Amino acid sequence: MKNIVILISGRGSNMQALLEAQLPCRIAAVISNRADAEGLNIAKAHGIATAVVAHRDYPDRDSFDAALANIIDGYQPDVVVLAGFMRILTADFVGRYHGKLINIHPSLLPSYGGLHTHARALHDGVKIHGCTVHFVTPNLDHGPIIIQAAVPVLCHDTEQTLAARVLHEEHRIYPQAIRWLCSEQIELGASGQVVFHKRKQSAFTLISPGLD
Ligand code: GRF
Repeated sequence: MKNIVILISGRGSNMQALLEAQLPCRIAAVISNRADAEGLNIAKAHGIATAVVAHRDYPDRDSFDAALANIIDGYQPDVVVLAGFMRILTADFVGRYHGKLINIHPSLLPSYGGLHTHARALHDGVKIHGCTVHFVTPNLDHGPIIIQAAVPVLCHDTEQTLAARVLHEEHRIYPQAIRWLCSEQIELGASGQVVFHKRKQSAFTLISPGLD
């Protein structure tokens, strides 16, 4: 059974979705860069080992990433899952976990990489928004895409209502992606594309606003 380590910085709702999904893997630890991350308490309540590597204790990204990798490697993970981990990682760190480092991002990448994705989507008036699970590469929010979920943007949406609609889907697609990885149904191929060993196709079209 594969070992996974989850990195968080805050609320931890995606981490919680993973803990509750009965994945075919062992969740070895949850690690945060912030001691006050609410998600640490959720992890502890599930009996999962937790650790804090506080980025403020390190003078630069290189030394923080080295310390973080040291703690992560103690758990010998096969997969390292970023679940709302709000630090940009160095190319060295990303390279160390090539093909094993996964992130969830609250937009339909490659649109709206970076922060404030819901506000930017509303500002632009897009009618479809969503979330993406992808392998992490040194190019921020541009790694090979594993799975995406699309949601409609509704006419009275606020940043909060849109975020909630997207988050609901995040909690569905992240466990799915990790399940595929842990059961070796997908991998990062040599060409940098996601290889699906068992492909499922979706036949649905989302039209937003809907047709009359
Ligand atoms: C999620 O929207 C995730 O996509 C983004 O950060 C947020 C984390 O939320 N990377 P939570 O901590 O999982 O509740």
